[in-house]
Amino acid sequence: MEINDRFLRACRRKPVDVTPVWFMRQAGRYMPEYRAIREKYSLLEICYQPELAAEVTLQPVRLLGVDAAILFADILLPVIPLGLGLEFAKGEGPVIGKPVRSLEDVRALNPVDAETDLGYVLEAIRILRGELKGVPLIGFCGAPFTVASYIIEGGSSREFLKTKTMMYSAPEVWHMLMEKLSGILAEYLVAQIRAGAQAVQIFDSWAGALSPQDYESFVLPYSQKVLQAAKAENVPVIHFGTNTTTLLPLMKRAGGDVIGLDWRIPLDDGWALLGDDVAVQGNLDPALLFAPLPKIQTRVQDILRRAAGRPGHIFNLGHGILQHTPVDNVKAVVDMVHEYSRPPFALSGAERSRSGEEV
Ligand code: CP3
Repeated sequence: MEINDRFLRACRRKPVDVTPVWFMRQAGRYMPEYRAIREKYSLLEICYQPELAAEVTLQPVRLLGVDAAILFADILLPVIPLGLGLEFAKGEGPVIGKPVRSLEDVRALNPVDAETDLGYVLEAIRILRGELKGVPLIGFCGAPFTVASYIIEGGSSREFLKTKTMMYSAPEVWHMLMEKLSGILAEYLVAQIRAGAQAVQIFDSWAGALSPQDYESFVLPYSQKVLQAAKAENVPVIHFGTNTTTLLPLMKRAGGDVIGLDWRIPLDDGWALLGDDVAVQGNLDPALLFAPLPKIQTRVQDILRRAAGRPGHIFNLGHGILQHTPVDNVKAVVDMVHEYSRPPFALSGAERSRSGEEV
């Protein structure tokens, strides 16, 4: 089988034949094949059974022709061996049974051993490496801040008030929690790499809730610890967040060969803020996948024009695929990215701006 290494090459800012593309949440409820499995098994049951998790990981690879697979798991799985309880309640998202609010709660957290406590994730990686062959596999974990926000709030949150209250009012509790979490997440990510993950992404999905000042003192050192542990294993590391326009230089300082950009900043402006010594991933608004094809096409071309053929661009959305996204549009974006970035056919900047009246 032919090896598709354009994703791994782009992570290293090496030249590629065409721009690689994959999607955060590329496996999920927008896909009928996934819904068919979800009729029989809960989300956690899929994660616990490595054969099923591997099958769900492969669904979008077969169907969409993406350039990377992302392991099917969830950033909150490590919460289970910590002893906090995790449920995905219908329509509510994740619910943590015993949220962490005090020094005693932090002290009571169980130690976590990735090999034994999260061995089912590692087993799914081993199965996938046998089945994927040519397509690289991305492992992942949540960043310490985003995971902490769930275990302190007890679930999803808009204001992150309990999380910030702990930071401001009980900083010693906050730092002890982040110290523990970053150690566990670093070991978990390293275990995924040793099981066969060829790149890893850390999801700091909600870091954008913080001011740069708070990010720097309460979050950066802990993300850095996780990112450095992964980097020492010599695989590309992607550092992702949303609403991060003002945090990008600090995220770069924390680490990552590739920094995720969401759609709130034009890709070239985000890349300029970061500097050209890192690769970037992004940044189509997931809502655009609901738009008519000509509109999607204009925006895909706009992102590629802003990347301007520079090595080190991985095409993705600015955040995960939304439920009810039309599968055909996702597939069309993969084909567009490949077609419009292929050098002999790639449109020049001027041609691109003429081809769409509005970008
Ligand atoms: O990207 C992939 O295809 C791999 C699988 C994956 C899942 N979760 C499976 C999942 C990944 C990479 C994640 C990461 C994740 N999980 C994040 C970071 C990414 C992001 O979106 O910001 C976060 C914040 C979580 C926590 C989480 N898990 C929430 C908030 C929810 C509920 C949201 C919802 O849509 O109901 C989940 C559930 C979840 N994890 C689903 C999937 C496919 C929902 C589908 C289901 O219930 O079957």
